[in-house]
Amino acid sequence: MAGTNVDVHGLEPEAFLDEVHSFEFWFQSVEGYLSGLDHGRRPETPEAPLSGVERERLITVLCNYCVGETAALEGSGGLIQIAPNRASKIFLSTQTVDEGRHLEVLVQRLRELGVEEPEAEIPLRASRSLMEFKRRLLELVRGRDWVAAIFAQNVILESMEFAVFQMHASSADDRTRELLEGIIKDERRHIGFGENELGRRIQEAPYTRDRLSVIRDELDALVLRSFQETMDAVGTPREERAELARNYLRAVERLGFA
Ligand SMILES: [Fe+2]
Ligand SMILES: [Fe+2]
Repeated sequence: MAGTNVDVHGLEPEAFLDEVHSFEFWFQSVEGYLSGLDHGRRPETPEAPLSGVERERLITVLCNYCVGETAALEGSGGLIQIAPNRASKIFLSTQTVDEGRHLEVLVQRLRELGVEEPEAEIPLRASRSLMEFKRRLLELVRGRDWVAAIFAQNVILESMEFAVFQMHASSADDRTRELLEGIIKDERRHIGFGENELGRRIQEAPYTRDRLSVIRDELDALVLRSFQETMDAVGTPREERAELARNYLRAVERLGFA
């Protein structure tokens, strides 16, 4: 491990991967934006006044986020077993910690909003397609399909969360916005790992791209349907719906998986 205060861009490729996948690097990344926070937000941030309808909508949206984060938590934990090398296993252990934190702060936010039993509330409000996405991701992990599972999790699921959280953060109440901003910073790191890992595999074996595009068709349909179901449930205006789908598709295409 190269240690603290190293310019990672000056390292050889192997040493670079060791460094950016390390706990050391993870800790330096998160301490800047997590220290001093209480459950992902500043302790002094006041609760914004929400109407009954706004509160209900927020609870439904947060319950769906909890499903996505649980999928990522279980997925990244399971992927440690099939990761092909030490650096990936260590990176996935940092991702597992991140996803556990995301789930925890979202559940805490549900409690603040008056949900007494988040565990019972989440499945009642979760989109069926998102639950199906979670089932499919974990099936790929259990099937020990490294390339497909990393694609499903660190490209598709992460791009979906990135698009949704960014859009939501731009209009959210202060407490929700602060915790989403911290989550988005972690999701960027997770996307970076997926992009790097798959980019190298596609270079080594170009047919990987065809395989991923078949999986992408299947999962895109679930992602877009889950947007639809959640936005139906919370009554999102038409323009925002189209924008969200566009942002998601753009995020995946930016990673070179057009
Ligand atoms: Fe997450
Ligand atoms: Fe993530």
